[in-house]
Amino acid sequence: MTKILQVKDLELSFHTFAGEVKAIRGVNFDLNKGETLAIVGESGSGKSVTTKSIMRLLPESSSEFKNGEILFNGKDLTKLPEQEMQKIRGKDISMIFQDPMTSLNPTMTIGKQVMEPILKHQKVSKAKARKVAIELLAMVGIPNAENRYKMYPHQFSGGQRQRIVIATALACNPQILIADEPTTALDVTIQAQILELMKDIQKKIDTSIIFITHDLGVVANVADRVAVMYGGKIVEIGTVDEIFYNPQHPYTWGLLSSMPSMDVNEEKLYAIPGTPPDLLFPPKGDAFALRSEYALQIDMEEPPPFFQVSETHYAATWLLHPQAPQVEPPAAIIERMRTFPGSRYYEATGGRA
Ligand SMILES: Nc1ncnc2c1ncn2[C@@H]1O[C@H](COP(=O)(O)OP(=O)(O)O)[C@@H](O)[C@H]1O
Ligand SMILES: [Mg+2]
Repeated sequence: MTKILQVKDLELSFHTFAGEVKAIRGVNFDLNKGETLAIVGESGSGKSVTTKSIMRLLPESSSEFKNGEILFNGKDLTKLPEQEMQKIRGKDISMIFQDPMTSLNPTMTIGKQVMEPILKHQKVSKAKARKVAIELLAMVGIPNAENRYKMYPHQFSGGQRQRIVIATALACNPQILIADEPTTALDVTIQAQILELMKDIQKKIDTSIIFITHDLGVVANVADRVAVMYGGKIVEIGTVDEIFYNPQHPYTWGLLSSMPSMDVNEEKLYAIPGTPPDLLFPPKGDAFALRSEYALQIDMEEPPPFFQVSETHYAATWLLHPQAPQVEPPAAIIERMRTFPGSRYYEATGGRA
């Protein structure tokens, strides 16, 4: 598998009036060619800051890379001059955001907006760029694109606008597409359609996708691998199956338990107690310990290292230390683990639920 992007030991802080906000506290992950990696976690866990670091979209005056590197095609993006970055942004790596209205320019026709990155990064005629723009609009599901490319954003529905944003992001055939909660602002039916479109795109073109969401529910359908973030760190990373059927970190258990459809017998939806840590004063040990009923003494004192669960699965929890007590995850999660080869509950059932 070709690694297209490698994030290594990334640390980033914001300098604020109140002090140093340690937003990214040692993040490591690779992105493989053609895969979709989902980054999930509650609001404030550092998902957007991680991907904005890759795009170098954070304010230079108040943010600072403290450590690590982001390797893309042999270049460390944390050190690249802004001028070089401009050649990459929107061409090799592009990004779509939650709110399609703020991503589109209300005073410019949608055709022009899709053409813009093509004309900026590629040496093609206007006529050719227009042709490509119309093809892209058709591909993302804008009907009658050849007539409608002259229309303005307000003449489209929210879901269609997000499709147009996606067309813009794909205009230069990027190697990496970052989608930061691309469906969060849309209603449920439209959400499903946009997710369908994202899957479609992945089949049609060879782009690697980083898909950010706070909603684990959408992940199973779109991602190949999942990184779970909390308090500025990745706490668990693995294939979709490993995260859903053999999760190891109590935070991942919490996220899974708070998914609506997990246990139909449950009357009330589970919510993880407490709130995420204040990254002005990050906790010494496992940042989730204060909210976790599974916390050990050592969680308060030392950050857990990554323990390897499989070739593709790692989790940063002291529960995986050989000397840690064996604890039982929530019952609904054990149920699912019983059917997952490689989970410690599988043996007992031989794979029958
Ligand atoms: N410009 C900024 N200045 C100071 N702190 C920031 C800034 N942007 C984000 N943060 C802080 O960084 C942390 C991570 O934020 P973010 O990546 O946006 O979370 P997520 O996308 O997971 O909801 C939060 O604690 C947030 O308050
Ligand atoms: Mg965010």
